[in-house]
Amino acid sequence: MNVLVIGNGGREHAILLALRKSKRVDKLYCMKGNAGTAQIAENVDVDYMNVSAVKKYVGEHPEIDYIVVAPDDPLAIGLVDELEAMGKRCFGPRKNAAIIEASKAFSKNLMKKYNIPTAESEIFSDYDKALQYIRAKGAPIVLKADGLALGKGVLVCEDLKQAEEGLKEIMLDKAFGAAGNVIVIEECLKGLKYTPGEEVSVLAFTDGKTIVPMITSCDHKRVYDGDKGPNTGGMGTFSPCPFWSEELEKEVYDKIMLPTMHAMNAEGRTFKGCLYFGLMRTDNGMKVVEYNSRFGDPETQVILPMLKTDLMDVFEAVTDERLADIKIEWEEGACVCVVLASGGYPLGYAKGKQITIGNTGEAVLVHAGTAVKDGKLVTSGGRVLGVVSKGKTIEDARKKAYKAVKGIHWEGMQYRTDIGEKYRKG
Ligand code: AMP
Ligand code: GLY
Repeated sequence: MNVLVIGNGGREHAILLALRKSKRVDKLYCMKGNAGTAQIAENVDVDYMNVSAVKKYVGEHPEIDYIVVAPDDPLAIGLVDELEAMGKRCFGPRKNAAIIEASKAFSKNLMKKYNIPTAESEIFSDYDKALQYIRAKGAPIVLKADGLALGKGVLVCEDLKQAEEGLKEIMLDKAFGAAGNVIVIEECLKGLKYTPGEEVSVLAFTDGKTIVPMITSCDHKRVYDGDKGPNTGGMGTFSPCPFWSEELEKEVYDKIMLPTMHAMNAEGRTFKGCLYFGLMRTDNGMKVVEYNSRFGDPETQVILPMLKTDLMDVFEAVTDERLADIKIEWEEGACVCVVLASGGYPLGYAKGKQITIGNTGEAVLVHAGTAVKDGKLVTSGGRVLGVVSKGKTIEDARKKAYKAVKGIHWEGMQYRTDIGEKYRKG
C-alpha cells in the first residue's frame, strides 16, 4: 500500500515512523512534511488547506491507496469528506464529527445533553451578557473561544480583572478571529490551580461501533519549567500517566468514552478515527477538559513508539468498521518526548537557524519545524524537534532523552528541563 499522511509536524513524522514499520506499507508520502519526514517519505509541496489543490494532487496520483488526515484544521473543513467522495480510503473523522473539536460550544452542549462529566459552563455570543455572567460567578474562571485557535484559545483566569480583560480580547478585539464570536465560560475545575499535573490525555481508536483506548500520556502545555509562562502546543510528553489505574480506566471508559461514542452516533455524527480525551482528575471523579478530533501533538510521539500492533492494520480496521475484531497491543515500559523549541516560542521567534546534531544515543529525533536549506538542516517553526526515548521507567526514559538533548544545538534553542518529573512523588 502507498500511504499519504497530511500534516507538517512532529505528530505526522511520528505517524510515518510507525507506518514505516508496517509490513504492508510500500511507499509513504507527506503533505507538506518537514526535513524528518523527507527521510522516510516523499514530501509533497501542496497546501493541505487548499482542498482543490489536494484533490488535484490525489487525482493525479492514483497509486496512493490510503490517506491519513492528521491536523485539526483540514478535518474541520471536511477534507476527509472530499477525499472519500473521490473514492479514497481515509483515516480521520468527517466534517460533521470533527466538530467535536472545532466547536467547544458543540462539545459542551453534547456533554450536557448526554450527561458526560465536564466542568459546568455557559455559552455566550453577546459580550455584555458574558461580562455580567463573569461578574456574577467571580474568579477563578475559564474562558474558551468557541473555534480552533492553535491551542491558544483557552484562558484560565485567576482573578476578575484577568477574566474581564480576556473576555474583551476574545470577543471584542478578536484575538483569535472568528473563533471568538462565541465564548464558553467555564467553572475552573477544583485542584487544577494548585496541582496542574492532574491532567491526562487518553487517545482512543474508534470506528463508531467500538472504542479502544490507547496507552495514556501527559502533556506539558506551559512553556517554562514548573508549568510557568504561556500555553504552547505542548513542550513535552511522557507515557504512561503514573496515576492511571484499572479503576480509572473503567470509570473513563464507562462514563466518558462509550457515552461519547454513542452520543455522536445519536446525533448522526458518527466519529471514526482517533478521538482524544483531555481529562482532569477532580474530587468528583474524572472530567472532560477537551475533546480533540485527532492524534495529539506531542502525545503521538510517545504513544506510537509503544504500539506493537501494525498501525496500518489498526487504521484499516477503523475505516472498515471492524475494530472489534483486532487486538491492539502495547509494549511495557515508558516513553518520554522532550520538545526543543525556537527561542521566543510561543510568541515571536527566528527561523532559519542552523541545527547541529551530535551523538544522541538511542533517542529518536522526531522532526517538527525543520527544513533543509543549502544542504543544511535549519529551524523553520516554533517547535523544532522532539527527542524521544524509551525506558523501563519514566525516570530511565527521561534520563536518556535529556542525555540526547545535550548533543543538539542551535542559536536560541529552548526546552523544559522537567519533562516527566510531574508525578515523581506520586
Ligand atoms: P485546552 O486548550 O482545552 O486543552 O485547554 C488548555 C488548558 O487549560 C488545559 O490543558 C487545562 O490545563 C486548562 N483548562 C481548560 N479547561 C479548564 C477548566 N475548566 N478548569 C481548569 N483548567 C482548565
Ligand atoms: N498536545 C495537545 C494537543 O495536541 O492538542
